[in-house]
Amino acid sequence: MPDEIYPIPTGFAERARVNAEDYRRRYRASIENPDAFWAEEAKFLQWIKPFSRISDTSFDARDLRIRWFEDGTLNASVNCVDRHLPGKADCAAILWEGDAPGESRVVTWGELADKVNRLANVLKSLGVAKGDVVTIYLPVIPEVMVAMMACVRIGAVHSVVFSGFSAEALASRIADAQAKVLVTANEGHRGGRAHPLKHNADEALRDQPSVRHVVVIKRSSADAPFTPGRDLWYDEAVASAAPWCEPVEIGAEDPLFILYTSGSTGKPKGLVHTTGGYLTHAGTSWRNIFDWREGDVFWSTADVGWVTAHTYKIYGPLLNGATSVMFEGVPTWPDSSRWWSLIEKHKVSIFYTAPTALRSLMREGDGPVRKHDLSSLRVLGSVGEPINPDAWRWFHRTIGGGRCPIVDTYWQTETGAVLLTPLPGAVPNKPGMAGRPYFGVRPEVVDARGAALEGPASGNLCFRGSWPGQARTILNDRERFIQTYFAPYPGRFFTGDGAARDEDGYYRISGRVDDVVNVSGHRLGTVELESAIASHPAVTEAAVVGYPHRVKGQGVFAYVTLKEGVAETEPLRREIMGWVRARIGPIASPDIIQWSPALPKNRAGKILRRILAKVAANDFEDFGDVSTLAEPAVVEDIVKRRQQALAIKETA
Ligand code: WT7
Repeated sequence: MPDEIYPIPTGFAERARVNAEDYRRRYRASIENPDAFWAEEAKFLQWIKPFSRISDTSFDARDLRIRWFEDGTLNASVNCVDRHLPGKADCAAILWEGDAPGESRVVTWGELADKVNRLANVLKSLGVAKGDVVTIYLPVIPEVMVAMMACVRIGAVHSVVFSGFSAEALASRIADAQAKVLVTANEGHRGGRAHPLKHNADEALRDQPSVRHVVVIKRSSADAPFTPGRDLWYDEAVASAAPWCEPVEIGAEDPLFILYTSGSTGKPKGLVHTTGGYLTHAGTSWRNIFDWREGDVFWSTADVGWVTAHTYKIYGPLLNGATSVMFEGVPTWPDSSRWWSLIEKHKVSIFYTAPTALRSLMREGDGPVRKHDLSSLRVLGSVGEPINPDAWRWFHRTIGGGRCPIVDTYWQTETGAVLLTPLPGAVPNKPGMAGRPYFGVRPEVVDARGAALEGPASGNLCFRGSWPGQARTILNDRERFIQTYFAPYPGRFFTGDGAARDEDGYYRISGRVDDVVNVSGHRLGTVELESAIASHPAVTEAAVVGYPHRVKGQGVFAYVTLKEGVAETEPLRREIMGWVRARIGPIASPDIIQWSPALPKNRAGKILRRILAKVAANDFEDFGDVSTLAEPAVVEDIVKRRQQALAIKETA
């Protein structure tokens, strides 16, 4: 069957930042001489002291080095905010929409700069200095940007924690980073409900002596607990702070931020991104990938707690002086036309979202979309997980009116910026495929032995050669950084994903090949989930796998072994779900719990997740090599229990 190809829309390439010919030429040049290419890109930034060294990099696990523009100095907030003031002080930087319809704010570049300077002074007065970590636990409100920019203005390192994470998850991230200050809000609003952020924060801080002060934003008039001496209200503090804060000169390789993500062991990893390389890559890739030009209105629906938002909702648009929409709520409240109404209201021209949201909105049919005029849209983007062709086509036709290219952008918290994508004016779309490499990056598909495969092939996805936006290390754990990404395939960065490359050099991502599940575009480590479940007093042991889920992409399937004598009851099942929600957050709550008096293990005691994943996917045949199983009857039992559960569901 020939590939389904969607050509670049008529007239698009002529005006695009990058057309097919530019892509070919610049891609080749960027690979032949990456230093020359990136040095040119880095001119996009305003440097205090220009760099003379471009890159010093090695992916050799015994001598790992990732350094870009090392002797240059700059300040991120100057690049993101001050630079735009001369022409844009009164123009909109942020078009904010609250959870409740009708609640909206416009933040101009001038106001943004004023708040950033004042909050930077407040942080300074609280003792925050260059290199100190500030944890930010906020809903999607403009103050997130203010807080991030205030940190980097004084060289402090921000660590944004998703506001949907529990107190416990917040506490472990604060402890790992030894944050000095926490910025939070009294509450956050989503889907018509208020979430008690300050209450969670207080709980998280019970045992975190590193945090000396808490800056509290009044998101609403609701009361919140307040500890005098430690806590201060944002409004009062910025009102009395001086309106100018001298930006601190920062080295290109000084840390800009930490962002935690899940891996294949229990503990979340704090990936460290540095300043010069990250900003170069974020700012230039953002405008190329979304084909941004002056006058566009950009909207990324990502929550500020994820890397998508860091690079392409905060840094990318800010570095370019772009206007963007920021929305606190959810797409389905008060009804499923909420996003579409906002696109119409703000004449959004570039819209970046996640497949899981599209799949859930698609189920509501075209009705909610048709109520709104989406003709302002010009470029669409997808991120976070593979987009299935059905959702792709719906996005293309129903949302994009058939006239907008879709950039399916493949990247990771670790990569800092996009590595694979069909640039919209240069690479025709194939639904479900993440396109071709971005400038300066060299993908490789490798087999199990680490040999790079040529031409059409499938295997594990690696990258050869450094790019400026990549993470430099895992905070407090350089060894884990090396072992996870550089040791598996010598000389290469290993993504943890499987991929297939076709005859046109397009890549299709098949998903994680490690113990990580991707639930609604959120990465969850199975070991982290297992330890959360196993910490419940009624549980002996748990094994977690992902299974295909219509809306979430993957759902969380947990096999749980209860302690001797504990009854397998419905209330206990719900209690365990709540237990995980409280320990990690609602996104991690298991979709299915199956009681399993024993788990399939090999003679060395290792759980055979491969078999569990097949059963969870209702695939009961051909379990491959089962000769290593310690007790084959265990598999029969888990299959029987799964089949019984399915039979009950069918008759229900
Ligand atoms: C993992 C990274 C990058 C921002 C969001 C997630 C999966 C990401 C795609 C895509 C297929 C994708 C991969 C990757 N992923 N984008 N376009 N197509 N899969 O960042 O939380 O660090 O997760 O998300 O599995 O490894 P993250």
